[in-house]
Amino acid sequence: MNAVIRAIVKSCLHHEIIPFGIYDGYQGMVEGRGKVLTYKDVSNIIQLGGTILGTARSKDFLDPTCRMKAIDFLKKENIDGLIVIGGDGTFAGAKVLNEEMNISVIGIPGTIDNDIYGTDFTIGFDTAINTVISAVDKIRDTATSHHRIFFVEVMGRDAGFIALNSAIASGADDVLIPEEKTNLKELLHHIKHSYKGQRSMIIIVAEGDDEGHAIDILNKLKPSLPEYDLRHSVLGHIQRGGSPSAQDRILATKMGVLAVDKLISGDSNSMIGLKDGLYISCNLTNAVKQHSKPDLSNFNLISLLRSN
Ligand code: F6P
Repeated sequence: MNAVIRAIVKSCLHHEIIPFGIYDGYQGMVEGRGKVLTYKDVSNIIQLGGTILGTARSKDFLDPTCRMKAIDFLKKENIDGLIVIGGDGTFAGAKVLNEEMNISVIGIPGTIDNDIYGTDFTIGFDTAINTVISAVDKIRDTATSHHRIFFVEVMGRDAGFIALNSAIASGADDVLIPEEKTNLKELLHHIKHSYKGQRSMIIIVAEGDDEGHAIDILNKLKPSLPEYDLRHSVLGHIQRGGSPSAQDRILATKMGVLAVDKLISGDSNSMIGLKDGLYISCNLTNAVKQHSKPDLSNFNLISLLRSN
């Protein structure tokens, strides 16, 4: 997120536009907290995880009376264009502002889940899967040395992008994602069949899998696998932090620059995306209403993971 903020500020300054940062998202907007951003504010931040502006899930913003305060604040500060970074909830908020005060709004997709409709990549996803890969590489040392089967839980309440992509890149033996119904019988068969030829197994579990969390799946399988040493590990919020990868920094920078260009050219109610290798702006409403899903048909990657 910091790389986007930096790109937006630098691009605004280049175009002689005054950039104004709002603290803690819509909550800060309701409470009238923000400041004009200078180059100094964004220097030395591209390597930092998180966001220098802070973020919040604002219940107040859902209340029309509180929202009026946000609108008054934007008017008082002479804000005539808004760039929001986040997911569908963030974009829904921007659309409401557009309708209620006719301000131009542009969305930038920022979530580690990578499930925003209209873009192939969201900011944070690449960093998150690199964190997962490095964690799995380390877990694998114990798995292999102690001949264990590990169920590694990754984030993804509704989406399996992190699980699927980190499973591919870490050479996992299986992956369980919300977009595919989990068949425990098949998983059991796979474990028994595969483990014979291996010293260990790594199974990546998305936290939103239909059979439950990694610990639930381990407990369901345990009675049928008495001779195996099973463990689980929940990676949790380490996936949401840390210094961003090169790919995320570049994606964030290009999206930030394009968002400013789009506002200048009079675009509104759009989301910036990277689709089929091209940076585009697309309809914000679609990004609010739909979710993107991993393409399971194209390469049959899950079958590849499972085959041995
Ligand atoms: O950003 C989405 C997400 O990463 C989900 O995959 C995860 O379940 C959730 O955030 C965690 O949110 P919180 O930090 O509020 O627990």
